[in-house]
Amino acid sequence: MCGIAGYTGERNAPKILFDMLKKLEYRGYDSAGVACFYEGKTIVSRGKGKVDEVRKRSKINDLDSKIGIAHTRWATHGEPSDENSHPHSDCTKQFTVCHNGIVENYKELREELTARGHKFLSQTDTEVIPHLIEEIYTGNFETAFVSAVKKLRGSFALVAIDSCSPDEILVARKESPLIIGIGIGENFIASDTPAVLSETKKVIILEDLEYGIIKKNSVSIKRLDTGLPLEKAVQDIKWDVKAAEKEGFDHYMLKEIFEEPAAVKNALKGLDDIKAAAKKLSKYGRIYIVACGTASYAGLVGKYVFERFGICAETVIASEFRYSTVNTTDKKCAVIAVSQSGETADTLASVKEAKNRGAYIVSVVNAVGSSLTRLADDNIYAYSGPEIAVASTKAYVGQATTLTLLALSEARELGKITEAYQNEILDDLHRMPDKINMVLNEREHIKKLALQLRDCKSFFYLGRRLNYPTALEGALKLKEISYVHAEAYPGGELKHGPLALLEKGVPVICVAPNDDLKEKMESNMQEARARKATIIRVAEDGELKVPVCDPILSPILYVVPLHLFAYYLSTGKGIDPDKPRNLAKSVTVE
Ligand code: G6P
Repeated sequence: MCGIAGYTGERNAPKILFDMLKKLEYRGYDSAGVACFYEGKTIVSRGKGKVDEVRKRSKINDLDSKIGIAHTRWATHGEPSDENSHPHSDCTKQFTVCHNGIVENYKELREELTARGHKFLSQTDTEVIPHLIEEIYTGNFETAFVSAVKKLRGSFALVAIDSCSPDEILVARKESPLIIGIGIGENFIASDTPAVLSETKKVIILEDLEYGIIKKNSVSIKRLDTGLPLEKAVQDIKWDVKAAEKEGFDHYMLKEIFEEPAAVKNALKGLDDIKAAAKKLSKYGRIYIVACGTASYAGLVGKYVFERFGICAETVIASEFRYSTVNTTDKKCAVIAVSQSGETADTLASVKEAKNRGAYIVSVVNAVGSSLTRLADDNIYAYSGPEIAVASTKAYVGQATTLTLLALSEARELGKITEAYQNEILDDLHRMPDKINMVLNEREHIKKLALQLRDCKSFFYLGRRLNYPTALEGALKLKEISYVHAEAYPGGELKHGPLALLEKGVPVICVAPNDDLKEKMESNMQEARARKATIIRVAEDGELKVPVCDPILSPILYVVPLHLFAYYLSTGKGIDPDKPRNLAKSVTVE
């Protein structure tokens, strides 16, 4: 949802900024831009297109500038175009700003500023910010910046420069992430840590309603409301630089699918935190699992595992939860918020609302230090490592594993399962990375199948109970990266509608583990076969083959061939699966 970067130091700013934007491109890639100081002026270079395209045609590369800001955009207000690309400047070109978030009151601000003679060149909400600074400015950049920011409603992560203060970058944050990477004689600003990892592992995380003055040798953070300086902790990021790079894979997505065995192993590292959270959870009568997108399907896996052990849990999509289900929360209820990024706006809003009503909040999160981790009462990290491809894969496997462990631990806590049973499942989970590797070794076969079906216009995915979410996740992945219509249904629902759409050759992907519902699933497949649909089974003896595992762990394993299938169908169509059109990895606006 837009990536922001900033640099001040002794090295070439345009180069560093474009390099940082490349690493933030997963947040948006419809346009990009850089602004740098050069010979007393701010030079802006921006335009429609991906970072590399904009970089290629940019003259800013030749400038010997040592300070600047940059942006890669995911359009909210105004279509992707050269004019709507960030950075944006005021009428005098003294102030230049990049923004991630939404200025909700931009219309009224724009009207007021227009009435005062300001000329707007874009349709963006962001453009009001430099004009506001211009309007308020009486000689002190920091004062004008803070006053302008206080007039904004909505969410923002901001970087701003003033050509009359050429040694500093001002930053501010409300609800959209921003971090400062601390170097020696240089400092970096970014929406997310992977953008600075190759330069420094020391970061300061800006919190809501904080702003900062970033110079090459100093970082000063203050509160927006009081202006008082804050002592901020510098955190050490443990992620390896390589973890955020492609390492010889054609795409991040493929690399991340190949990290699914490690995602299971790493989720198991959180077992102590999981057991501690389960102990607390066992005291709550009602459990909601709240998330968006792929994380919500991992949440659904969690619900079914809880239910398997006789524990009531409801999974609700965050954008619905925050406006409805939240009314039913109180101090007797627990909310498990699931998020890879820990920055998804609807998930954060749901958590805030439920917390206000007294609910206990536990997160299942991947990004250390993210906003969600600061809101939750307790955090369970999935430790899946940085995920760059927009479509989430290894994080899903990490989340599904973590939630399975959480349900298992709570069931043990409540005496619903024996220790021996718990250990049996844990043993099987320890064997899971090898089983996933066996599926990954089948990639050529999966690729062949994907290529055979490349031209199909519509896909159906069926699953039951624990693997209904697997079907949903398989269908979502295909939609996201192949732009093909795909729908998932619980097997039992087939005859209540979708059967009418089945005809000769329509692929129906059936997730069919070897469990007590196998025969029911078989009947559903017969129903589809009778309509001459092409059946593809994810099963121990299926067209998409998986090794034997305990049915309770099947969602973790059975999703792997579906991730590979979607990947190969996407690349088979010549699509870049890392950057699907219209989507962004981290949705920090509502
Ligand atoms: C976006 C991404 C998805 C992700 C969802 C939730 O839609 O494209 O891959 O599942 O947001 O993100 P979160 O970071 O909260 O898991």
